[in-house]
Amino acid sequence: MNVLLESKDVCKYFGGLKAVQKVNMRVRQGDVFGIIGPNGAGKTTFFNLCSGIYSPTSGQILFEGEDISHLRPEDIAKRGIARTFQNIQLFKFMTVLDNVKIGFHLSTRTNMLDAMLHTRRYRQDEEMIQTQGRRILEKVGLAEYASLPAGNLPYGIQRKVEIARALALEPKMILLDEPAAGMNPMETDSLRQFILQLNQEGYTIVVIEHDMKFVMNSCSRILVLNFGEKIFEGTPEQVRSDPGVNEAYFGKSGYWKEAQEDAEG
Ligand SMILES: Nc1ncnc2c1ncn2[C@@H]1O[C@H](COP(=O)(O)OP(=O)(O)OP(=O)(O)O)[C@@H](O)[C@H]1O
Ligand SMILES: [Mg+2]
Repeated sequence: MNVLLESKDVCKYFGGLKAVQKVNMRVRQGDVFGIIGPNGAGKTTFFNLCSGIYSPTSGQILFEGEDISHLRPEDIAKRGIARTFQNIQLFKFMTVLDNVKIGFHLSTRTNMLDAMLHTRRYRQDEEMIQTQGRRILEKVGLAEYASLPAGNLPYGIQRKVEIARALALEPKMILLDEPAAGMNPMETDSLRQFILQLNQEGYTIVVIEHDMKFVMNSCSRILVLNFGEKIFEGTPEQVRSDPGVNEAYFGKSGYWKEAQEDAEG
């Protein structure tokens, strides 16, 4: 299958801190690709590199074979990579629909002057965005929340609104940074089904997640990071049985055993 996203010896240093150290990985089209690793392993930094928030200290990130390492976030988004954030980034006082509509701004032609003068172009774009925003909310099952302020909604719903906004970019790939964080088991389960549904519709997904049940049951491949370095990449079965991963990462803390039980339960 096609490789969509690839990192080659990617490093990101903050002063002396090696947050990401020579990471090589490949996400193929159609993957649900998981990234796991302890706190501070470099997972979010890696997403920040893939989405243009940071430029790598060295190494390259390729999307559809082209070097995107030093592109601006909006240019990377235009090429087809959308993301959500570890800490929900919604405009709390704006409605759900308005939050999703923001996601469209990259694809419209209107500028500030159009908006101020309410030009025809502005009105046409506004109408188009309104319709598409509603369509996306329908699609993700959030239509009933369209006119409610985003900040008052349950956590699980807010997470979905963020994903809906990412979809508004019409991306090929969606990066999700701990989408299940803070969710109860029912919300997590519903989110997992939602993500798998998006994947079946053709979106390639890269997901950072601590919830092992989520990762082991939903991902086709998994990258394991530890202290900025890749310690393993493979299928859930391979990750589960790799002695290196067990030893270096999970074994000592007993975390892995607990995680395995969680994943099975
Ligand atoms: N902008 C920054 N400036 C300095 N250090 C940073 C910066 N961003 C991240 N770091 C450091 O880089 C390391 C990796 O952080 P990162 O947030 O990528 O980890 P993570 O794997 O996402 O962790 P968590 O599971 O807690 O979200 C940490 O030591 C963090 O303190
Ligand atoms: Mg993080």
